[in-house]
Amino acid sequence: MQRYRFIESCLFLPTYFNHKKLKAHLTGKTVLITGASSGIGEQVAYQLASISCHLVLVARRREKLLQIKNRIETKSATVSIYKADLRNDHEMNEFLTFLHDLPNGLDIVVSNAGLSINRSIYDSLDRYHDFTRTMAINYFAPVQLLLSILPILKKNHGQIINVSTINALLAPVPYFAAYQASKSAFDVWLRSISTELRAEGITTTTIYLPLVRTPMIQPTISYQHMPAMTPSHVAKIICKSMYTQKKKYQPWWLLIGQLASVFLTSFGDFSNKTKNRKKS
Ligand SMILES: NC(=O)c1ccc[n+]([C@@H]2O[C@H](COP(=O)([O-])OP(=O)(O)OC[C@H]3O[C@@H](n4cnc5c(N)ncnc54)[C@H](OP(=O)(O)O)[C@@H]3O)[C@@H](O)[C@H]2O)c1
Repeated sequence: MQRYRFIESCLFLPTYFNHKKLKAHLTGKTVLITGASSGIGEQVAYQLASISCHLVLVARRREKLLQIKNRIETKSATVSIYKADLRNDHEMNEFLTFLHDLPNGLDIVVSNAGLSINRSIYDSLDRYHDFTRTMAINYFAPVQLLLSILPILKKNHGQIINVSTINALLAPVPYFAAYQASKSAFDVWLRSISTELRAEGITTTTIYLPLVRTPMIQPTISYQHMPAMTPSHVAKIICKSMYTQKKKYQPWWLLIGQLASVFLTSFGDFSNKTKNRKKS
C-alpha cells in the first residue's frame, strides 16, 4: 500500500465516500471497465468487489484479468473478463457483440484504457505511428465503443466516466504531444455530446487527474520523485462519482495550475525569442 508524503497529503486531499450509497446505487448493475488489467482500472475493480454487481473487465493481458477476477470473486461481485486490443477493429467488433449480448445491458462505462508516450518532437520525426497509436486507444477506441453502446446506456439511464488528465485543461507541456492531443480530443468529444446525452438520461463524468503512480508513469524517470496520487485513491474518486454523478472531478489546485501554466508558457516563449534574437 502506497502512502502519501506530506506534500502529497496537501495536494491530494482524502476522499470520503459513503459505501452504503455506492452499494445501494450499484447493486444488480453492470459496470464496464476498460483497461482493467493494471493501475487505475484494476483498483476501480477492487473497490467494487464487495458489491453484488457485474463487472466486465477488458484489456489485452488475459492472465492479469484472470488474476483480478479470481481475487474479486472471493467477495460479492461477479466478473466477466474479455481479452481484446481495443485498437484492433476485429477484436473491438467481437467485444461489441459480447456487450450487446449482455442480458441486463450496461449501466456504467469507465473509459479508462490508455497509452502515454514521452518523446521529444525531434525524436519523433520518423515515428508517425506514435501519433496514430495514441489516437487509436485514447480517442478512436472510446468513440467507437460509445457509438455502439449508447443505445444500451440510454435504456438503463447509464453513466459514462472518462478517466482524463489535467493536461486537457492546462497549457500543453513539451514531450507529450501525442498523449495530450489524443486525451484532449476525447475530452472535447465527450463534452461536445454531453448535453445531448443528458437529454436522453445518460450522465457523463470526467475525472481530470494529475500524476498517478501506476505502471504508465514508470518509464519517465523524472516522475519518480514528483508528487503523485495513488491509484487506489483515484479509484475511490471514480467510485464516488458513480453515486454523486457529478460532471467532473479536478484537484482543488487546478485553477492555480492553469494560471501558472499560462504564465510559464508565455515566459518560455519570451525567453526563447530573446535567445533566438541574440543568436541572429
Ligand atoms: N498514471 C497517470 O499519471 C495518469 C494521469 C492522468 C490520467 N491517466 C489516465 O488513466 C488511465 C489509466 O492509466 P493508468 O495510469 O492506470 O495506466 P496503466 O496501468 O498503464 O493502465 C492502462 C490500462 O489500459 C490498458 N490498455 C492499454 N492499451 C490497450 C489496448 N490497446 N486495448 C485494451 N486495453 C489497453 C492496459 O491493459 P493491457 O496492457 O493489458 O492491454 C491497462 O489495463 C489512462 O487513460 C490514462 O491516460 C493516467
